[in-house]
Amino acid sequence: MSNYQKAAAFLQEKIDGAYDTCVVLGSGYGNLIDKLPNKLTISYSEIPGFPVSTVPGHRGEMVFAEMNGKNVIFMSGRFHFYEGYSMSEVTFYVRVLKLLGVSNLILTNATGGINPDFRAGDLVVISDHIKLGLQSPLFGPNDETFGPRFHDMSCAYSMELREHCKTAFQKVGVPYKTGVYVMTGGPQFETPAEIRAFGILGADMVGMSTVPEVIVANHCGMNVLGISLITNLAAGISKAPLSHEEVMEEGRKATELFWKVLSELMYLI
Ligand code: HPA
Repeated sequence: MSNYQKAAAFLQEKIDGAYDTCVVLGSGYGNLIDKLPNKLTISYSEIPGFPVSTVPGHRGEMVFAEMNGKNVIFMSGRFHFYEGYSMSEVTFYVRVLKLLGVSNLILTNATGGINPDFRAGDLVVISDHIKLGLQSPLFGPNDETFGPRFHDMSCAYSMELREHCKTAFQKVGVPYKTGVYVMTGGPQFETPAEIRAFGILGADMVGMSTVPEVIVANHCGMNVLGISLITNLAAGISKAPLSHEEVMEEGRKATELFWKVLSELMYLI
């Protein structure tokens, strides 16, 4: 039995019913799940093979809940490359979700806005991404049980889920914005020269997560949706120094709106 199978079997034993959708809550989104009734919470530290999240604002819990009548798994806290995890540890949970039967993976994150039309507090749906030179989470021997050696990334963010998301944004009255996400390894924020370069490359926002999970989810045939919260204007665009506290504060403010969008989305998927 692989470590993925061990983790999935451990979880399967604790849950009732089927879960086809998982929402990964990024920096500042963690407290949202407290609103949901009847939830089963399992700490990452209990799950065989799971790394433990170390970032403030990331709780490290998997929550099995119901949202508008739909079974949804919430990952409260994720694993970042900058914490010292390997790319395969960062993405371990994605394959466990696949084995549990999840086909829709909704990833949220905090980002710095590069596109001059973006403001702190905007929710932006990811249309595509740029990985830069970071190692692929699929580096090393390929596990054929999950997907092929070389897989297509030409529509990494599901068109269908994006359309549903657009409808949900419109229902809630949130302006629908889309953008290209560029991932840096972090943990340092970028220099203004890096941000100018990323803008020229075609990036609209920058963050330190998401891309590894999107690669692994695409590899095993999951549908991916990415929603970024612009927590700050990126370095050089903002005149002020960047801080993790600022990122957390904007996260708290935008969560209400995000939650409404997510509730609507649950009727559609
Ligand atoms: N850069 C990188 N990651 C981030 C930022 C940023 O400006 N804001 C939130 N996450």
